[in-house]
Amino acid sequence: MPFYRDHVYPRLVRLLGDPEPVREIRKRIVPLARGEVLKIGVGPGVNFAYYDPARVSKVHALEPNAGMIRLAERQRRRTELDIAFLDLPGEGIPLGDGSVDTVVSTFTLCTISGVADALRGVRRVLRPGGTLIFFEHGRSPDPRVRRWQEWTEPIPHWLFEGCHVTRDVPSLIEQAGFRIERMETAYLARFPKAWTHCWWGSAVPQPDPRSPQAS
Ligand SMILES: C[S@@+](CC[C@H](N)C(=O)[O-])C[C@H]1O[C@@H](n2cnc3c(N)ncnc32)[C@H](O)[C@@H]1O
Repeated sequence: MPFYRDHVYPRLVRLLGDPEPVREIRKRIVPLARGEVLKIGVGPGVNFAYYDPARVSKVHALEPNAGMIRLAERQRRRTELDIAFLDLPGEGIPLGDGSVDTVVSTFTLCTISGVADALRGVRRVLRPGGTLIFFEHGRSPDPRVRRWQEWTEPIPHWLFEGCHVTRDVPSLIEQAGFRIERMETAYLARFPKAWTHCWWGSAVPQPDPRSPQAS
């Protein structure tokens, strides 16, 4: 439904996507970004306010949804950051290998349809020594909550254009060739607990075992 995707979904994310406990964690993790930054799934641009302009030289703002870009454009005008919006041709990140210092993903790895390929793309564009900063929600370690997640998943999947609440995001990050440096986890709301089990932290790309430098 193009009208829902381009007009309703972006406003829903802007309305519900930044409650106080989420905002507190954005304020802690987004300022850790440095150098040239790729933000995957910019959405309505709520993170723009939290980058440290003294540490960030440029933000490549990847977003396939035109309605989100319209909202994010308003946030962009409020900052002094150098921000360039990027589309997503053929699901491939349109940046060169090893071209960014930091990739930031907040509530995006739950939604991307080819998440394993997308994470491999993130690893490709990160410079050696670069960092992936993540803040995501997904699979609970508690089997009772997990059952609720499995039963209710069709609702966020429909409302939020493909959002999954059962993805084990830290495992996906590791399987894509990253080592998680630090991570915290919590339920950020008591209701709906099944949709608010979150992780936030940072991960670094592991050397590719096939590359000559790794041996
Ligand atoms: C739930 S919103 C999160 C928005 C924002 N990152 C935040 O923290 O509020 C998920 C975003 O991911 C975007 N998205 C969906 N598929 C994507 C893809 N393959 N690559 C990058 N972004 C994608 C959606 O258009 C949407 O803006």
